[in-house]
Amino acid sequence: MRGSAVLCVLLLSLAWLGLAWGAEGEEEDGEGVVAEEEEEDGEDEVLSDELEEEDGVLVLHEHNFARALHEHRLLLVEFYAPWCGHCRRLAPEFARAAAVLKNGSVAVLGKVDAVAQAALSAEFHIEAFPTLKLFRDGNRTHPVAYSGRMDAEGMVLWMQRRAGPSATLLHNADTAAAFVSAQDIAVVGFFKELQGDAARAFYEVAGELVDVQFGVAEEDEVFEAYGLSADTVCLFKKFDEGRVDFPVDPERGLDVAKMTRLLRVHSLRLVMDFSNETSNEIFGAKIPHHMLLFLNTSVAEQQELRHEFRAAAGAFRGEVLFVVVDVDGYGATVLPFFNLKPSDAPTLRFIKMENNRKYRMEEDTFSATAVRSFVQAVLDGKVKPHLLSAEPPEDWNTRPVKVLVGKTFEQVAFDETKNVFVKFYAPWCTHCQEMAAAWEELGERYKDHEDIVIAEMDATANELENITISGYPTLHYFPAGPGRKMVEYRSARDVETFSKFLENGGKLPEEPPTVSKTPENGTESPNPSGTAEAREEL
Ligand SMILES: *[C@@H]1O[C@H](CO)[C@@H](O)[C@H](O)[C@H]1NC(C)=O
Ligand SMILES: *[C@@H]1O[C@H](CO)[C@@H](O)[C@H](O)[C@H]1NC(C)=O
Ligand SMILES: *[C@@H]1O[C@H](CO)[C@@H](O)[C@H](O)[C@H]1NC(C)=O
Ligand SMILES: *[C@@H]1O[C@H](CO)[C@@H](O)[C@H](O)[C@H]1NC(C)=O
Ligand SMILES: *[C@@H]1O[C@H](CO)[C@@H](O)[C@H](O)[C@H]1NC(C)=O
Ligand SMILES: *[C@@H]1O[C@H](CO)[C@@H](O)[C@H](O)[C@H]1NC(C)=O
Repeated sequence: MRGSAVLCVLLLSLAWLGLAWGAEGEEEDGEGVVAEEEEEDGEDEVLSDELEEEDGVLVLHEHNFARALHEHRLLLVEFYAPWCGHCRRLAPEFARAAAVLKNGSVAVLGKVDAVAQAALSAEFHIEAFPTLKLFRDGNRTHPVAYSGRMDAEGMVLWMQRRAGPSATLLHNADTAAAFVSAQDIAVVGFFKELQGDAARAFYEVAGELVDVQFGVAEEDEVFEAYGLSADTVCLFKKFDEGRVDFPVDPERGLDVAKMTRLLRVHSLRLVMDFSNETSNEIFGAKIPHHMLLFLNTSVAEQQELRHEFRAAAGAFRGEVLFVVVDVDGYGATVLPFFNLKPSDAPTLRFIKMENNRKYRMEEDTFSATAVRSFVQAVLDGKVKPHLLSAEPPEDWNTRPVKVLVGKTFEQVAFDETKNVFVKFYAPWCTHCQEMAAAWEELGERYKDHEDIVIAEMDATANELENITISGYPTLHYFPAGPGRKMVEYRSARDVETFSKFLENGGKLPEEPPTVSKTPENGTESPNPSGTAEAREEL
């Protein structure tokens, strides 16, 4: 029963990167839940406050936690669950970060099995796995939530920012000039008072943007050298416009979240080239829309199109990220997601990150004016999304399980004379493969029923206007009758339970506990009913 919640969850905000990763994604299994129950008995074997290590990481429990806090000024703790796949994948990164940070005497890393250590888990309100918290100066009541990247390098940078001053003090114009010219991107905060609120907020911003070097200056000489007279944050970059100033509002002060976002947006290039090196930046900036130009960079005439594309980009900074995708390079991996072939280049696509809706021009026109008006029209809601649809196989309607595609979905699922049960799947998702036989058997069982249709749709190749699929497999039931109703099936994926559901008119005699939604940022929720919902990042 419990395995029923196991699902490949689509991280919509990363989706167009999706196919590149999907094939490599690891699978979860539901077995860990059993371990959760067995684990609990072992708990009281550990009574000493001895600090032991595993791979350079302190193994913490309720008896040695206080001692670890006492002995280490900066202690980053990972709360994990034995069954959590994300935690398993994080483990080697965490150990690598621990080695680097320990070697430099920067900080110490520890881990807590949050399932076995229920008391610690409750004390620190652990609600998702893995959760990382930083304990400073032995302060047990106010740990800081980890907000950095989930890889060793990200963790090291994030901790280093918290161990030492997060911004370099620039005493005079020369040191400032040297600092600025030493890196591609540098941020300098100019503050009349380094002890003031604005400067304090600036240090917090520096703690979040760990990939960028931060400096601070308070001397008049430095203000003058940069033509400034009031508190200002300046972003210096060796590309695009070179320098951007963000004056600090004297009334409202410096808003950490807003400044972090502005700096993140403006430190991206106006037009990004999609590659394995830039994908972190592209998706990490959390810009709500992407405008993509697909090019074959080996073709000179196509390369020319960049200029117009770039000219259109400036007006949408922060709102729409402009990205060039090389179909002859790394970009080839994402083409299937857009149902494109390399020979379709050059072409343009707009994508909304929140729901994956894609938009295209009726006919591609690459001039800056055309691109600008198209983007504006999509933002204004004047363009209909372009929905993918595969061609239906010839025998789609005669198989026990009907094979639906985007263009046939409406007529079948919303047929008012039929009860239609649809499986939405992804070809690469193993949880879907595991239930494939049961679905076929269900199809066989009901193939002669007049009013029951068992169907399936590959949701990676077919999109629907009003139904967004965010996990695989997703099972929806469309009962006969008017009103276009849709019921999501969230119970065990076996033939008997499916049958019971169908025979009972689209519900189960006793409804199973609902599965809690997992957040979409790569953590796993332990869920109140005790089921483990596995995720697979697309
Ligand atoms: C430890 O730090 C020293 C000095 O910073 C460095 O030379 C050495 O490579 C580091 N060792 C490891 C294993 O990181
Ligand atoms: C822990 O930190 C909080 C917030 O900074 C502070 O209010 C509290 O007094 C600290 N507790 C101890 C024991 O230092
Ligand atoms: C990107 O790919 C190149 C070539 O395949 C590889 O050498 C490099 O390490 C990769 N970089 C990242 C950040 O994955
Ligand atoms: C890109 O263009 C070059 C030159 O015309 C061609 O040889 C190559 O096959 C193209 N790449 C793709 C992926 O179509
Ligand atoms: C989708 O929803 C919109 C707004 O409710 C509606 O106008 C449209 O007809 C729906 N389309 C389909 C295919 O159900
Ligand atoms: C993940 O998302 C949850 C809720 O959406 C949030 O509470 C949590 O802080 C996030 N974690 C990270 C590491 O961003």
